[in-house]
Amino acid sequence: MTKIAVSILSTTDNLTKVIKKIDKTDADYLHIDIMDGKFVSSKSFAFSQIAKETKHTSKKLDVHLMVQNPSKEIANYALLNVEYITIHYEIGEQIITLIDKIKSYGVKCGISINPATDVQKIIPLLPKIDLVLVMSVHPGLGGQTFLANAIDKIRLLKEQIIKNDYKTVISVDGGINQEIAHVCQEAGADIIVAGTFIVTSNDFQSQITKLRS
Ligand code: DX5
Ligand code: ZN
Repeated sequence: MTKIAVSILSTTDNLTKVIKKIDKTDADYLHIDIMDGKFVSSKSFAFSQIAKETKHTSKKLDVHLMVQNPSKEIANYALLNVEYITIHYEIGEQIITLIDKIKSYGVKCGISINPATDVQKIIPLLPKIDLVLVMSVHPGLGGQTFLANAIDKIRLLKEQIIKNDYKTVISVDGGINQEIAHVCQEAGADIIVAGTFIVTSNDFQSQITKLRS
């Protein structure tokens, strides 16, 4: 079954309250978007805030680092109840060392690609990583419109993963609603990241159930 990761980025409500509400659903992960004001122009949460707030949930964290120099953040987030730490392909050649750093903590490693990045670039990395995160919006902001070129990327990645018998899972992030989730699943996505569609509603569970159907 497709897994659901709930992004808390777009919430305007009290964070503790929202995290407690997510904890009561059957969502698989809490997706944490970290932005440094360099890799993307906006800034989001501080580590101290996330460390404190995530005490209110037993959900595993899916940490998405939109950060130019993520070394320190990796060391920090590896201490929490984390399943995946994802860094961006676009930060440059340091990713090879950082993949090993993430794994050295016993945490699963993800690499994300921006909408403008050619998917072929990360094919050689697939055997080294646990997750590939296809961005379906330009990173930096919740509530944007889904960019359809993500679908072709998911299809191509799935083809490669099956052909080579890799264990890498495919996640897709940005602008996802019920209809789009369905198309992403058909294309081969294993994890759907959704923020606005879930956290701006009155009934988190029913939105999550819709994304899975
Ligand atoms: C965008 C973030 C996403 C996004 C998801 O930079 O990585 O996780 O906020 O939220 P929605 O579903 O609102 O696009
Ligand atoms: Zn994200």
